[in-house]
Amino acid sequence: MRNAKKTSIKQWMGVVLAGGLLASSMAQADFDRASVLANTCVGCHGVNGISAGPAIPSIAGLSEAYFIDTMKAYREGERPSTIMTRLAKGYTDQDIDDMAKYFAKQKYVQVEQPHDAKLAAQGKAIHSKSCERCHDAAGTVAADDAGFLSGQMKPYLAYSLEDFTSGNREMEKKMAAELEKVQKAHGDAGVKALIEYYASGKK
Ligand code: HEC
Ligand code: HEC
Repeated sequence: MRNAKKTSIKQWMGVVLAGGLLASSMAQADFDRASVLANTCVGCHGVNGISAGPAIPSIAGLSEAYFIDTMKAYREGERPSTIMTRLAKGYTDQDIDDMAKYFAKQKYVQVEQPHDAKLAAQGKAIHSKSCERCHDAAGTVAADDAGFLSGQMKPYLAYSLEDFTSGNREMEKKMAAELEKVQKAHGDAGVKALIEYYASGKK
């Protein structure tokens, strides 16, 4: 009787342990899977998703929602790109979800780069008036689900804004209205000033 009881406790412990190990090895497997997928990205987007190339954005720390929407928009050809559309076609919804979790856990680091301080000061004023309400702290807050602006690579920012102003990339009506106002008030110099401000890494 005593032995039988011992065995059953042992068996029970065995089940609990095996269950725990199984659950943790599954979580580990998801993470490994995501990091294997992400390995394809770091060649261009930099180690841990911090960009080292001029026209390539940092993707570390992007919110899951923004990351998922963005990858799907590339995949469906809804967002213009040089290479991301071709690349995104190779990934399933599950792959994208896994990578979104992986990159959301990385920390966004603002890239240091040369900028024009005078233009950056003008850009700051324009940003505060027209952009800050959706791009908090100069566009460094992932939870805004609107990408990163300050500290993002300058040529990438220029291409992005060009995609919007040329009408190639869709944007919220309210953002379009603000961008139009900026262009009316300052011409192309307004957008240039914004880019210098974001390049300055200031918030
Ligand atoms: C060969 C270089 C290259 C590789 C590899 C690459 N990317 Fe990109 N990525 C780019 C470029 C360049 C852009 C800017 C859009 C464009 O022109 O395609 C971009 C843009 C993005 C953006 C938009 C960022 C934003 O703030 O809106 C995301 C997200 C992204 N890539 C995710 C990924 C993921 C995830 C992978 C790996 C599965 C990956 N990229 C692999 C070059 C690359
Ligand atoms: C009403 C809210 C709103 C306002 C105002 C707004 N934006 Fe945006 N912006 C967004 C959202 C949402 C996105 C993400 C769009 C997407 O998912 O493709 C975005 C995306 C962007 C991007 C692309 C980021 C990337 O890496 O792809 C840039 C650049 C940008 N905004 C600049 C600006 C500037 C400059 C202003 C001010 C003139 C501005 N926005 C005003 C909501 C706004």
